[in-house]
Amino acid sequence: MTNPSDIVWHEQTVDRAAREANLGQRGVVVWFTGLSGCGKSTVANELERQLNQLGRATILLDGDNIRHGLCAPPDGLRDEHGEEFASRFGLGFGAIDREENIRRIGSVAALMASAGLITLTAFVSPYRRDRDRVRKIVEASGSAGDFLEVFVDTPLEICEARDPKGLYKKARAGEIKNFTGISDPYEAPEQPEIHLAGHAEATPSEQAAEVLAELTRRGIV
Ligand code: PPS
Repeated sequence: MTNPSDIVWHEQTVDRAAREANLGQRGVVVWFTGLSGCGKSTVANELERQLNQLGRATILLDGDNIRHGLCAPPDGLRDEHGEEFASRFGLGFGAIDREENIRRIGSVAALMASAGLITLTAFVSPYRRDRDRVRKIVEASGSAGDFLEVFVDTPLEICEARDPKGLYKKARAGEIKNFTGISDPYEAPEQPEIHLAGHAEATPSEQAAEVLAELTRRGIV
């Protein structure tokens, strides 16, 4: 087994401030959270479009996409090492797997922010403790105010009526276990920096503009 003391931190010459100075912006993490189908990916995507129009350097990490890569079972290696290896490294939706999913994403998001990027993330991230842990990681690698939680507060009934991927239907039929809002909890943020009240009339573009206005008010954009 690897001894942790054999892994030594290596100081780097170019620091965060230098990277941010080159980009002319401050790296932050804008963390969208909410139920499946609440619109977080759509709003984050629209926000990224608006930021890019303003010439800002951004990256968007999205739950479904990351679960196809960083947090997916390693297909190629499955052939070599078998199913047990695959299930050990690919993540599902039980509480421990979600915790690990958010830990990995949080760590990647902190790195992206330290590269000076306005880092947008869209994950269900249902557990308050997991989100708070990411806040700490991001703030420890930068400063207070570098993590902004955006609660996309669309009621379950609306998300379920939308059901864009047919997952709620499957969850109600018992075909998907641990489905957030149906058979698994969602712990709403208590004091999110930005609260997008879920009413069907607001367009994703208007909601993105609301987040952009807050980023502007905070001097990030
Ligand atoms: S988490 O909780 O943050 O680890 O989830 P995340 O990585 O964001 O992945 C959520 C997307 O996976 C699909 N999906 C599920 N969501 C919730 N619960 C269960 N059991 C589940 N199974 C699959 C779903 O399409 C989510 O995407 P969004 O964009 O949120 O609808």
